[in-house]
Amino acid sequence: MDQQANQYETTTGHNFSTKDWLNLHYKAVENEYASMVQSVGIQPGWRVLDAACGNGCFIQKLSELVSVHGRVDAIDLAPENIAALQSNVMKKQYQCQVYPMRGNIMALPYEANVFDAVWCSAVTQFLSNDEFQSVISEFIRVVRPGGVIAIKEFDGTLFYFSPSVPTLLWNTAGLMDEQKQTSFLSRPIQMKTVLKNSGLIEVTQKTYLIEKRQPLNEFEKKYISAFFDAQDVSWVTLDKIPENDRRIWKLISNPKSKQYILNEQGFYWREGHIVAVGIVPSH
Ligand SMILES: C[S@@+](CC[C@H](N)C(=O)[O-])C[C@H]1O[C@@H](n2cnc3c(N)ncnc32)[C@H](O)[C@@H]1O
Repeated sequence: MDQQANQYETTTGHNFSTKDWLNLHYKAVENEYASMVQSVGIQPGWRVLDAACGNGCFIQKLSELVSVHGRVDAIDLAPENIAALQSNVMKKQYQCQVYPMRGNIMALPYEANVFDAVWCSAVTQFLSNDEFQSVISEFIRVVRPGGVIAIKEFDGTLFYFSPSVPTLLWNTAGLMDEQKQTSFLSRPIQMKTVLKNSGLIEVTQKTYLIEKRQPLNEFEKKYISAFFDAQDVSWVTLDKIPENDRRIWKLISNPKSKQYILNEQGFYWREGHIVAVGIVPSH
């Protein structure tokens, strides 16, 4: 059975990457995301690249960090995401100049050494190891010596929800293809080593845990219910899932079922993100 497109898939084929999804996610975890972007050392006056910016959820925070004399460039593959960001730029809602562009982060359309920092959130999950190496080489090329490269990524090993069958998510993760297992489950934990081996110096890595419990606020409820709603046609290949696990996924995801997970008093949601930061050495 071919997998049906998820409503949150971009026209360029990336799941959970449309503006609707990115906005839902950002609003639900805004404080935690703010801590992550504030931690990487971006300074006033800097020129920063938001690589694979989506519809630009992080650009408000980036523009506050670089302030009026700084500048943010933003690049993404999906034309509809760049159009959404462009429309926000037209409304002049940012503190600095913002320059959106459609393009591929594996072949950046910028001169060498022009940026003080690159911020790259939630895209390495779509990249094979070889693609990721091309991306890092491009980041090193466009960032000046002494500048910062910051990678934020979802760490699938920390994703969990409860109450449910305790092994449901792990069984499902076991059915992901090898590349997804690498990019969601193995590489995020090893990001520090990957960046060091790519030539960056002073590399640090920190894990941020996001935990949500009842009572969920309005934004948390919208985001988490959208996740379960999307499970029928999600990134997990549901057709491969054993019948019993599929039955459980359907029961916990259906708002009309007695086992709908968001109605559980003890509902718990956990997601983890890593932020790895390295400095570009002198060329
Ligand atoms: C999950 S979204 C993350 C968006 C944003 N960085 C955020 O954290 O809110 C992934 C984004 O990566 C973009 N993308 C995927 N591969 C790309 C590539 N090779 N070059 C540029 N953008 C890419 C997708 O179009 C999508 O907007």
